[in-house]
Amino acid sequence: MLRFVTTNEGKVREAREYLGADAVEQLNFDYTEIQADDLATVAAHGAREAYRHANEPVLVDDAGLFVDAFDGFPGPYSSYVEDTVGVERVWRLTSEEDDRSAAFRTVLAYCDGEGFDASPDPVDTGDERRGQDQAADERGAATTDDQVAAGDLPVKIFEGYVPGEIVAPRGDGGFGYDPIFEHDDRTFAEMSAAEKNAVSHRGRALAKFGEWYTER
Ligand code: IMP
Repeated sequence: MLRFVTTNEGKVREAREYLGADAVEQLNFDYTEIQADDLATVAAHGAREAYRHANEPVLVDDAGLFVDAFDGFPGPYSSYVEDTVGVERVWRLTSEEDDRSAAFRTVLAYCDGEGFDASPDPVDTGDERRGQDQAADERGAATTDDQVAAGDLPVKIFEGYVPGEIVAPRGDGGFGYDPIFEHDDRTFAEMSAAEKNAVSHRGRALAKFGEWYTER
């Protein structure tokens, strides 16, 4: 059984809606969110930690809101900003800008203790080997089982992105920044989980993951 690792019920609802309620079970495990300026590093680290904890296939989702006027801030710091400043203040700060465009990004990181082919999606084979492996991925090299044997845990990465605009809060569905993120005239908080999945960063990443996982 695939474990979706999060303490966030909203993410689980969307993953189950997309992959099927019987396909995913929540693992309420608070993995270490390392300080890093890209989502993939945080998610890959979390997936390794969760896999070592659960010893079963795990999927970690690390997401963030990237506001163009603030050069992508809060991005990987979205959780901290939501907890400290709050979503309403993010709207108020952005409302002073001419450009209110933004994007949500999600990285799904999958780990089951085995190796994977490096394409079509990247494989993260260990934080300390990151540079080396990116070069290997670019050459199209496959991740080998030697790395698993050597103690590294390969993590397969799936990314999703959705553009939108920061608006005054509307709607009471969803979670987090959903009320202030508008896509095609509706905020994510005004959509059902299925409607949000059809267009969202998470829905897009889940689609890529689902296709690959079915093959696996
Ligand atoms: P994390 O991926 O759980 O670290 O979430 C980072 C921050 O983004 C938290 O403040 C979440 O509430 C928020 N967030 C993550 N995904 C979504 C989403 O789909 N909609 C709205 N906010 C989100």
